[in-house]
Amino acid sequence: MKTITFANQKGGVGKTSTAVAVATELAKRGKTLMVDADSQGNTSTWLIDSLSFELAQVLEEKCTLREAIVETGIENLFVLPTAGVGGGLRDYALYRAPKYHKEFKRNVVAAAEVEGFDYCVIDTSPAFNPLEWNIFLASDEIVAVLELDVFSADGMESFTANIAELRKQEDLGDDKPLFNKIIFNKRDERISQQKQFFSEFQKLSGYNFYIIPVDQAVKKAQGLHCAVDMVKDVKKDTLTALAGIAEALK
Ligand SMILES: Nc1ncnc2c1ncn2[C@@H]1O[C@H](COP(=O)(O)OP(=O)(O)O)[C@@H](O)[C@H]1O
Ligand SMILES: [Mg+2]
Repeated sequence: MKTITFANQKGGVGKTSTAVAVATELAKRGKTLMVDADSQGNTSTWLIDSLSFELAQVLEEKCTLREAIVETGIENLFVLPTAGVGGGLRDYALYRAPKYHKEFKRNVVAAAEVEGFDYCVIDTSPAFNPLEWNIFLASDEIVAVLELDVFSADGMESFTANIAELRKQEDLGDDKPLFNKIIFNKRDERISQQKQFFSEFQKLSGYNFYIIPVDQAVKKAQGLHCAVDMVKDVKKDTLTALAGIAEALK
């Protein structure tokens, strides 16, 4: 099983949108678990109608992964949900996560492997607290999602510093977890400044860059509670980009 985390310490850039769309693509290749690790529960609201248990309960061993997993309307795609309103992940992340150092790896990732999943895709919040630390630690690969603007350029610096700190403190190798993919989301040809930011980013060595265009189909899919590729006027470039990212991650 491969565990892939979509992250950036910045909100609204498209972590959830990209994680779900790529997970949908990966589900065409193997059994995929989408873990909603953001206390806002956006992934869960998008993909499922109701839940019995949530991620926080799996982490605190109040239920098993198997009990908490919910089927989605997309073949081969399952969700380990988080309830946005009234959910327990916020309190867990704020007050209790530090005590549960290896729980994410054991109760979620290792348990998903036992359940026969081929891919575990994790959507995260913009925070970098013990919960995110433990998620990064349990991941094979981290994918950064950002927009082509000045805040993203600044954010990337703290993001790479966080990963470097994790590798150092946990005594991991230079490529564990792997971080060599950056997705630029909401690319808009009409915004000329984006080109400038893109060429700046391209000077960073050792990364592969992927571009997803600005596409109203993403928001429509969220409203319709369906996959992005099910929206009838989705851009061809969006589908090509998503398939390319999934292929690179598989
Ligand atoms: N490629 C895209 N084109 C147009 N809108 C997008 C795209 N990706 C995301 N969005 C929209 O941007 C907003 C933020 O996306 P979201 O995935 O929730 O970000 P994050 O999880 O990083 O906070 C949402 O309203 C979403 O519909
Ligand atoms: Mg999100």
